[in-house]
Amino acid sequence: MSDKVTTLGAMEKEVSSCTRCPLHESRTHTVFGEGAVDADVLVVGEAPGKDEDISGRPFVGRSGRLLRDLLNENLGESGVDIFIANLVKCRPPNNRNPESTEIEACVGYLYRQIETISPKVVLAVGAFAAKTLLSTKLGVGALRGQIYYDGKLAVAPSFHPAAALRGGPSVVTKIRADLALVNLFLKGEIQ
Ligand code: URA
Repeated sequence: MSDKVTTLGAMEKEVSSCTRCPLHESRTHTVFGEGAVDADVLVVGEAPGKDEDISGRPFVGRSGRLLRDLLNENLGESGVDIFIANLVKCRPPNNRNPESTEIEACVGYLYRQIETISPKVVLAVGAFAAKTLLSTKLGVGALRGQIYYDGKLAVAPSFHPAAALRGGPSVVTKIRADLALVNLFLKGEIQ
């Protein structure tokens, strides 16, 4: 446990001075992620938005509050430990999509977080996280509804909470269904 704290702490410091891509020029803070170092579920979003850039914390804006509520509601009661991070650790200007060169420059940090935390399942919210972690061009709509396990890493793709804010209750229902799958997977009731 304390090894993980040390490793993640050192990595967070390294990320805070990262200049591997041009996003470092416009960021206020890097957003390394936060949560339980022994998390069962590692949630991976796209990239920090304005609120996250200001605070240095992941998913604290409007879509983040929805995501955190859904996680609490669906996994909180089962006592599931969670760590929340992003694919890209710096805010793209005006919340534009991250470019592939920025993802390539940054994704190594995420893989190191995955290796250190060693979660039972990674919940990839949104197309960028899901496509990157599953090495596919398919969109979330086609990918979600199942858990992908390659013998090393289990990935549960779902919609980004911002899509739920735009798309309304039907998208929220699908995210809930994906979280229910995560719960069943953690209980060993599905593979
Ligand atoms: N959207 C994301 O993908 N990540 C955040 O941290 C905030 C908004």
